[in-house]
Amino acid sequence: MKQAPKHPVRLERQGSIALIVIENPPVNALGGAVRRGIAAALSAAEANPLVTAIVICANGRTFPAGADIREFNQPAQEPGLGQLCTMIETCSKPVVAALHGTALGGGLELAMGAHFRIASTDARVGLPEINLGILPGAGGTQRLPRLVGAELAMDMMLAGAPVSAGIAAEMGLIDRVTGGDLREAAVAFARELSMPHPTAEQRGQFSDANAYMAATKARRAELKQTGQASRAALKIIDCVEAALLVPIETGLEMERAAFEECLRSPESQGMRHAFFAERAAAKFPEDAPPRDISRIGIVGGGMMGAGIAIACLQRGFDVTLVEQGESGVNTALERIGTHYERAIAKGRLSEAQGAAALTHLQLTTKLDTLGDADVIIEAVGEDEELKLRILKEIGDQARQGAVLATNTSYLDLMRLAQATGRPNDTVGLHFFAPAQVNKLVEVAVHDDADASAVSTAQALVKRLGKVAVRAKVSSGVGAGYIGNRVLEAYRLAADILLEEGATPQQIDTAMRGFGFKMGPYQVADMSGLDIAHARRQSSPRDADARYVEIADKIVAQGWLGQKTHRGYYVYPEGARDGVPNGDVLKLIAAHRAENGITEQSFTEAEIRDTLLLTMVNAGAQLLTEGVAARPGDVDTVMIHGFGYPRSRGGPMFEADTTTPALIMRRLEALQAQAPNLWTPAPLLRELARERRKFADLN
Ligand code: 3HC
Repeated sequence: MKQAPKHPVRLERQGSIALIVIENPPVNALGGAVRRGIAAALSAAEANPLVTAIVICANGRTFPAGADIREFNQPAQEPGLGQLCTMIETCSKPVVAALHGTALGGGLELAMGAHFRIASTDARVGLPEINLGILPGAGGTQRLPRLVGAELAMDMMLAGAPVSAGIAAEMGLIDRVTGGDLREAAVAFARELSMPHPTAEQRGQFSDANAYMAATKARRAELKQTGQASRAALKIIDCVEAALLVPIETGLEMERAAFEECLRSPESQGMRHAFFAERAAAKFPEDAPPRDISRIGIVGGGMMGAGIAIACLQRGFDVTLVEQGESGVNTALERIGTHYERAIAKGRLSEAQGAAALTHLQLTTKLDTLGDADVIIEAVGEDEELKLRILKEIGDQARQGAVLATNTSYLDLMRLAQATGRPNDTVGLHFFAPAQVNKLVEVAVHDDADASAVSTAQALVKRLGKVAVRAKVSSGVGAGYIGNRVLEAYRLAADILLEEGATPQQIDTAMRGFGFKMGPYQVADMSGLDIAHARRQSSPRDADARYVEIADKIVAQGWLGQKTHRGYYVYPEGARDGVPNGDVLKLIAAHRAENGITEQSFTEAEIRDTLLLTMVNAGAQLLTEGVAARPGDVDTVMIHGFGYPRSRGGPMFEADTTTPALIMRRLEALQAQAPNLWTPAPLLRELARERRKFADLN
């Protein structure tokens, strides 16, 4: 854990204005030492007769981005952030907060404790606590409604997404926005402030509390109906309602109690784990400086290639996209164009922004245009011969020093890298569909990859605003990096349950009950059964490995899922939700009879536990092989790539709610049925022997 600097807060003076300057890199989180420093500086400034007003500001990349989340599991230190905000609010001299960077969570609450707020044009402000399963706990739920009205406040806290300084100013949250020097502007602002400043009581006036109350009720009902009513969301609504009804002191007490309750909840612990796991995953052992990147070449303009192109355009890269023939180019252009048309129609982009983004796109049929690309990503179909041929051509065309990447999900990376003629410069960049939205990218590293090629790929992922997870692959180690290996085990386990007596809808219901948006068979229908079928057919299989033929039999009927309106479910024309497919149930029953399998019944809990156990074992196997470096990396992949509920932290985090010894025993009970799936991974045995947990390896 990083130590906070010894003196993270300084008190400076510019004439009659005192400046409280926070410096606690990297994000000026408001840990105990910072809070004590601010409190001491505030008292000193208040007591100094030469000081007429106070500015709170921060050095470095941002105004505080929140409370220090690492302190949440430690004993409370005085003053609490809530106390500090009240101290600021009740200060007898005007206090101005000067915001830059990302003033989030407790940082914004601190600023709302101040009497005025000035922000630089590019600042962003927000209360993202809900993403950690908590609510603002330092007065945010009480002060934000008083500043911007209950509805806007509620929307901002429920969405958890930051807004720009300009929008915040329109809302009434920021008093001034400056494009010039923030500190100078803040000091000038403070000099104007000899007048009395607004007090908490004044902020407490609501002209139309009844209308707001009706809105909060409607919002609560809507959340419950859509199934998005998390504990934190409901508490936010309760607290906003309190802000409308009771004095601020009472509202603050209520908020504090709600905050403590949420903080202790398993969902907040899971979400906090996910937050740190994601950041730990982004740390790669390769520390070579990344190479410069400005132009990205992409070969293949199908769904994946077009999605990657959009992701790159969105972040300001120049893109050269190569497709085959005129029709390939037109289809790719249509895909990308449709994306921008929709974004404009939904108001996410202006027409000018959409048009500007497209000027950075070059669509062509010629691979020899890739000579000026800094990174070239191969994103053609998952066909080894095709990929080998394209990668060879990419290797022929790329300039020296360019980083080459393949988007393969299963094929042998080493073999593909060699096809380029420059394996050292080649890595795997496995984007997840839809690539313009999904935040996960597995960066696959083979034995001969150059450290700077890996760092460049990692830097690209970060600049795309995505989450990079490193997968170390060696020839001979199972195909499919991290996510697809866990997924494959999960699917096989579900198929075994299906063969033994469960129905697709029972399995899907169990996993939805656990928190997945969709169960494995709904996902299979959505992705198309033919894709997984082709993959199964093309991969080598041990003769004694357990294999379930049900999916192949369904494909043989021509039922490929949503695209043919029939798969595990039937999809009436125009419907997205399926109804159970009676023919599939008959097919499964006939399959059991043919194979002499006696139908068993499973409870939802048994189904869920078996599938979770399977994911944990697959994760432990990946850690044993060194494909994944940390249990948190597996969690990050499963959350972002496969919709594992974030509030549960991921399968490896969840595994620590029990013990490796217990997990082993349960696997051993299943092992004989499918040794390829349920033989406990060596790492599990090791942890059980040493009485350690997965968390000890993060
Ligand atoms: N507490 C402790 N550490 C934090 C932190 C926080 N609030 N926010 C970020 N960090 C750490 C990260 O763990 C990371 O540490 P590492 O280098 O050791 O891995 C480092 O700061 C840099 O973070 P990022 O890699 O995320 O940097 P980015 O530049 O990509 O993003 C950010 C910066 C937008 C500020 C992002 O870090 C972020 O979203 N942080 C969380 C913001 C948040 O949730 N604030 C609310 C906290 S809860 C709260 O305030 C409760 C209050 O209501 C009482």
